[in-house]
Amino acid sequence: MANQARIYFDEDGDIERLRGRRVAVIGYGNQGKSHAQNLRDGGLDVVVGNIRDEYAERARTDGFSVVPIGEAVAASSIVLLLIPDEVMEEVYPRDIAPSLQGGTLLVFASGYTVAFGLVRPTETIAVGLLAPRMIGVGVRERFLSGEGYYSFGCVHQDPNGDAMPMLLGLAKALGTLKKGLIEVSFRDEALLDLFNEQAFGPAFGRVLLTSIDVLIRNGIAPEAALTEMYLSEEMSYTYHKMAQVGLVKQTHFHSQTSQYGAMSRGIRYLNLGLDRKMQRTVDEIVSGSFAREWSKPLSRLKFRIIRFFAFRQKINKLEQKVRRRLRLPEVAIDAPEEDVQTLLKRPEIRAELGEFEGYLEW
Ligand code: NAI
Repeated sequence: MANQARIYFDEDGDIERLRGRRVAVIGYGNQGKSHAQNLRDGGLDVVVGNIRDEYAERARTDGFSVVPIGEAVAASSIVLLLIPDEVMEEVYPRDIAPSLQGGTLLVFASGYTVAFGLVRPTETIAVGLLAPRMIGVGVRERFLSGEGYYSFGCVHQDPNGDAMPMLLGLAKALGTLKKGLIEVSFRDEALLDLFNEQAFGPAFGRVLLTSIDVLIRNGIAPEAALTEMYLSEEMSYTYHKMAQVGLVKQTHFHSQTSQYGAMSRGIRYLNLGLDRKMQRTVDEIVSGSFAREWSKPLSRLKFRIIRFFAFRQKINKLEQKVRRRLRLPEVAIDAPEEDVQTLLKRPEIRAELGEFEGYLEW
């Protein structure tokens, strides 16, 4: 039988455990802003630690006391790290580790950096994970509506033995226990997150693009094809219904013809070989090889090139045209300007791009 996760709900958390303790929210971006505001509304003493930038200004405008990162860490017994994962490897040893007091509870919103050894907190620090399954804006909106949001989380190390009640108090103050905190380790959270991005997302994207292509080749107008496949938001309703009533049961909301067609033709798509490809992705994530690859400077260059070409795929132009015809608001493509031709002259970069040969036009 598969592992069964422990799940924490509202009755498992006690905000009183946090009274008299200062909470440092490091970063005031997507998640930092919502976390800081939810915790303040929960009556907690919150200080924002931030570098001098527009985010710091925003936090001040929103009425928070904003101090340099090290200062916020030193003055708090709970520290929420809400800066991008990509900068943590550099920021943690320089601005955070030296200011941490013994007994501090350090909370991450993503398992990535700890799971892959990019950040290694010392053993005297309690370390927890509270990773929202929700974008930052949703964390705030669902706190205000009282609906809550799911999170994955755990205590990773606990030198004082009180990290779990503190983490649950924090989870309650944030509003996530209203929905549920599912116990998931740092490694598993990173696997879930990366798997969704690297396996499900691209496979789903490919199905979508192939469908659009096949429809257009069969004489369907692009306006109709894009509306059918995603612009109507009909698919997102279906997804919503899957969450509400169940994956198969939501078919009740569709006609008998739709149900028969989907069920009888579904068999053709059983053996796409997806499981083998997805297993390869899992292996790369779990072994740390993806994290090592992404940390290499060469991968940043590779990223710039593939992103450049991704924004130049013909679907972007087609979509813009269709949006205009449907009177949808103009959304700029924002294609990054890159001197890719110079980058592409470097043999080590060409070697990295081997598997794209024949797919990208350069
Ligand atoms: P973000 O990109 O919105 O973070 C911006 C903040 O980071 C700003 O306060 C900025 O001053 C600070 N920052 C940027 N570069 C910095 C540097 N070099 N040194 C110091 N501070 C710097 O980040 P976001 O998206 O809120 O992510 C924060 C954490 O939440 C990450 O661990 C992420 O994985 C996690 N998370 C994010 C979700 C999302 O929807 N964005 C969802 C779930 C988890």
